[in-house]
This record gives sequence, structure tokens and C-alpha cells, in this order.
Amino acid sequence: MYLCICRAIRERDVDAAVRAGARKPADVFRACGKSPQCGTCACDIRERIAQTVREDAVREETSRPLLMAAD
Ligand code: FES
Repeated sequence: MYLCICRAIRERDVDAAVRAGARKPADVFRACGKSPQCGTCACDIRERIAQTVREDAVREETSRPLLMAAD
């Protein structure tokens, strides 16, 4: 799904930018090699960044091996 119609930035583009370190809409635009036009998408991009950061943190937490208590 497109989050930015002006610059054709999709959810998966935002996800890739987040995994490369983007934490603000400006970072996402930079990572995509584009610049914002109308700015209407900023809130949606911000929400997607937060969602992706949250989901990646949960995924990382649940994929860690359990540490066994030493006797
Ligand atoms: S919708 Fe993203 S800049 Fe216009």
C-alpha cells in the first residue's frame, strides 16, 4: 500500500528505511532518494515507523534464546 502518493513510497519502503535506521519521515524520504512534496503523508509515515520499530523489537525479543539458570 502506498503511504506517500506524491512520491510513490510504499509501506515496505518505509519498513526497509526503518531497518536501515530511519526514525523520522525525513529519514524515510532520504533513504528512498526522494523529497517530500505536499507533506500530507507525514503522519502515516510516522505511524508506520513506530509500528515497524515496535514489531521488530518484539520479534527480536521473542527470537532470543532463553537463558537457563546455572545450578
Ligand atoms: S503524499 Fe507524501 S509528499 Fe504528498
